[in-house]
Amino acid sequence: MIPIAKPLLGEEEAKAASEAILSGWVTQGPRVKQFEEDFAAYTGAGFACATSSCTTALHLALKGLGVGSGDEVITVSHSFIATVNAVRYCGAVPVFVDVDDRTFNMDPALIEAAITPKTKAILCVHQIGMPCDVEAIVAIARNHGLKVVEDAACCAGSEIRINGKWEKIGRAHGDAACFSFHPRKVITTGDGGMVTCNDPELDGKLKLLRQHSMSVPDTVRHNAKEIIFEEYPAMGYNYRMTDIQAGIGIEQLKRLDGLVAERRKLAALYSGLLADLPVVAPHQPAWASSNWQSYQVLCPGLPQKAIMQAMQDNGVATRRGIMNAHRERAYSENEPCVLPGQGLPVSEMIQDTGIILPLFPGMSEEQVHTVVDELKKAIASVK
Ligand SMILES: Cc1ncc(COP(=O)(O)O)c(C=O)c1O
Repeated sequence: MIPIAKPLLGEEEAKAASEAILSGWVTQGPRVKQFEEDFAAYTGAGFACATSSCTTALHLALKGLGVGSGDEVITVSHSFIATVNAVRYCGAVPVFVDVDDRTFNMDPALIEAAITPKTKAILCVHQIGMPCDVEAIVAIARNHGLKVVEDAACCAGSEIRINGKWEKIGRAHGDAACFSFHPRKVITTGDGGMVTCNDPELDGKLKLLRQHSMSVPDTVRHNAKEIIFEEYPAMGYNYRMTDIQAGIGIEQLKRLDGLVAERRKLAALYSGLLADLPVVAPHQPAWASSNWQSYQVLCPGLPQKAIMQAMQDNGVATRRGIMNAHRERAYSENEPCVLPGQGLPVSEMIQDTGIILPLFPGMSEEQVHTVVDELKKAIASVK
């Protein structure tokens, strides 16, 4: 079976985890601090705050930027549902805009029409590794006094060209960018997340909130000669990353550029081989460079599930593409959200026609050929 994804974890990560365990300090401590510094340096951000996941990173970032009850946040329904959940955790209302049919990302041309006096922020997503047009999105936000949070869950190592210079996603181009280290991502810590930003005040707020709003962290009290009593000036959360995860993360980050280079090669091979098939290969704008966290094709007019089943039966795992929160009962029946009058036709078309193909470190060129051959056969068999 050719799997859909596979994390690359080796002896280095096992040794780092073991060292963290044997050090006696296993949750947020020196390794978390090191991982934060390394990640900030890698992305070019001023600050990084490690969290337990990207979902908690998104909640912290929105909260830290002042999003609260009754506010509106412009975002996409076409994302993993955690994007929208984070808005609801703040008591805010998600206002959906449609996505571009080629990049699968928020269409900046649709944002202005969604802005109301209640709009507080824009939560854009760099979907499956492909940078969204964050430069255009930030320009609109600044015109209207809105905050921008980037959901960069899948985007470690992706780049965007701004003023002729390539910059890493997470620099951060908005007010904060949030990453995931779930095993389906390009680098993993098992679970885990990170918020990057350039505002020391925001970073301080995030670091307070993620550890119960504890005024003096346990690491500081542990190393102090005098007795210090901490305070809790606000209600906080336990969104900590452990030092065991951070130890793994430090090693994963060293591999990131190599992993992205390998994924880019495999994606280019796919794109060439798919040219003869009746599918739409992903589009990369000239100003974007994806890490190819996922490689999704669209199969318009073809039976998505039957193609996936035929490939599965012949030893190739696939996944359907990104779903839409507004079609899930969590939002269609229970939680408030706002859809544009014309609905979200592009978001729905992508969900209904998208198929994610296998792409993982160590995948051979032969395996890419096999996947494309099986896709071709599957299409022929269901026509
Ligand atoms: C776009 C997006 N946002 C948020 C998340 C949530 O990440 P985590 O599982 O680290 O909470 C994911 C995970 O797949 C995602 O793809």
